[in-house]
Amino acid sequence: MKHYKILLSLFLLSHLYSQEDFIDDLEYGKKLYENPRGISCKACHGDKGEGKLIATYKTRNKEKQLFAPSIRHLSYEDFAQNINSSKGVMPKYYLTEKEIEAIFKFLQSL
Ligand code: HEC
Repeated sequence: MKHYKILLSLFLLSHLYSQEDFIDDLEYGKKLYENPRGISCKACHGDKGEGKLIATYKTRNKEKQLFAPSIRHLSYEDFAQNINSSKGVMPKYYLTEKEIEAIFKFLQSL
């Protein structure tokens, strides 16, 4: 009986893992880019990470513009380092290395 249970859970585990393989890596990166932790990178950095104008505002009667920079041409090191170290405007995400890698690969693929 005990053995049966162990075998069953092993079977379930391996089944779970093989299911995961079915989720295409790039598809995973795309999902993360579009909706990580409920705040979309896309909303600020654009469809392809090309960067975009997020907002214009006035301060002391001067028009100011707020841009999200292009994140398409960063090295993986810069990309990974700067994602989780916001200087203010960008929200902090606390993404895992796996998630960062998936987003990076997705952007490279575009
Ligand atoms: C609210 C808008 C906003 C969202 C959402 C956002 N970013 Fe940003 N991001 C910025 C801005 C603005 C900067 C410039 C630095 C700063 O002000 O924090 C930036 C900087 C970066 C940088 C560093 C760029 C460089 O040249 O060093 C990377 C990498 C980055 N974002 C990736 C992402 C990823 C990936 C996501 C989704 C997980 C994301 N950002 C979500 C606005 C945003």
